[in-house]
Amino acid sequence: MYYQNNMKVAILGIDGYIGWPLALRLLSRGHEVVGVDSLYTRKRVSEVHSDSVTPILSMEERIKQIEEKTGKTIKFHKGDVNDPDFLYRFAEETRPDTFVHLAEQRSAPYSMIGLTQARETLMQNMGGTLNLIYVMKDILPDSHLLKLGTMGEYGTPNIDIPEGFFEVKYNGREDYLPFPKFAGSWYHWSKVHDTNNLMFANKVWNLKITDVMQGVVYGTRTPEIEKYELYTRFDMDEVWGTALNRFCTQAVLGYPLTAYGKGEQRRGFLSLEDSISCLTLGIEKEPESGQYRVYNQFDEHYSINELASLVKERAKSVLKIDVKVDHIPNPRVEKDEHYYNPEHSKLKELGYKPSRNLKDDIDSILKDVFNFKEKAMSLKDVIKPKTLWKDESKEKAR
Ligand SMILES: NC(=O)c1ccc[n+]([C@@H]2O[C@H](COP(=O)([O-])OP(=O)(O)OC[C@H]3O[C@@H](n4cnc5c(N)ncnc54)[C@H](O)[C@@H]3O)[C@@H](O)[C@H]2O)c1
Repeated sequence: MYYQNNMKVAILGIDGYIGWPLALRLLSRGHEVVGVDSLYTRKRVSEVHSDSVTPILSMEERIKQIEEKTGKTIKFHKGDVNDPDFLYRFAEETRPDTFVHLAEQRSAPYSMIGLTQARETLMQNMGGTLNLIYVMKDILPDSHLLKLGTMGEYGTPNIDIPEGFFEVKYNGREDYLPFPKFAGSWYHWSKVHDTNNLMFANKVWNLKITDVMQGVVYGTRTPEIEKYELYTRFDMDEVWGTALNRFCTQAVLGYPLTAYGKGEQRRGFLSLEDSISCLTLGIEKEPESGQYRVYNQFDEHYSINELASLVKERAKSVLKIDVKVDHIPNPRVEKDEHYYNPEHSKLKELGYKPSRNLKDDIDSILKDVFNFKEKAMSLKDVIKPKTLWKDESKEKAR
């Protein structure tokens, strides 16, 4: 494992929530950034009559402003990673040292709307990753792929969750095997299938791969976002927003926070700043040639009830807004009380030091949503859940 400066990094999904602040961080560390995006998330979010609460500029405008403010440029290629011709052309032309693959359909509820959305999620996500595997094998076999998976791949087993692999003893024999996955939506299963395909590609062609099992990311700010005043997106609707983003928006609007089910579902979380730091570390400290490594990337875990209480308390303290917490029927099929103890030490062994926690960042999220309250108010009708994992009243969706 070695440290590299001035790398050429291709960010696939550069227009997204994580892609944009990652691009700003890599530029500020002296790396060259090239980006790909099909603008898929912008399109699909607008189709459910939603939008980012924070104002986000077009990719062209973002790049123009960054050039004016830093003198540095980002070469942007509009295209779909699920189109092999496009991806081969992009790789031939740019020849990056590292591919950061963020360009997937990333909403669990979207993937559960019906057959069309389930097929789109599985085919598009697995197709893009498979294209990338072949591009690396055929054109850039020494490049490094850092791929975003999710902690949701593991599900919520009643035992500790290791980082990718664990030792198994069965019928008197032992092995070191991939930990069994049990995901909770077609979206999360698409990530499990990606993981299997990446492990296989590594075994057959020795590709250098980092597979990041990332927890839920929260926050609106990184030092670069603040310095250049160029926001990343903030989604809060029932399809594209996280529970925390919904709660913060509901609090700002003075609406009850809607916790799904009993609210004891527990997940791993980390701040946007720490997510960007971890990814940067994973890029700069590459795996060895032929290595496949897995990181569980999260810092804290919270139950939905703990998130709701924290938002309620901080909204009262910071914005003087008093909100209540309602429990509504859970639209998802998931255990709402369970054991949860995933390991997460490998990134720290690589040099990662967590810098934030939710208590540090929640006030700034609430203030940012409050600053764009009019926009949030215009989106009030898309917060409550309409997408059901199991809808017995509906005819089979086709
Ligand atoms: N944000 C989180 O909390 C979180 C947690 C765990 C994992 N992840 C994963 O991290 C990645 C990035 O997440 P995000 O929150 O930034 O999502 P995002 O939707 O904001 O960003 C993804 C970007 O990729 C683009 N894209 C999607 N499919 C594409 C395709 N086929 N070709 C080209 N561009 C495409 C989208 O337009 C979007 O700009 C995703 O893979 C997501 O599953 C995110």
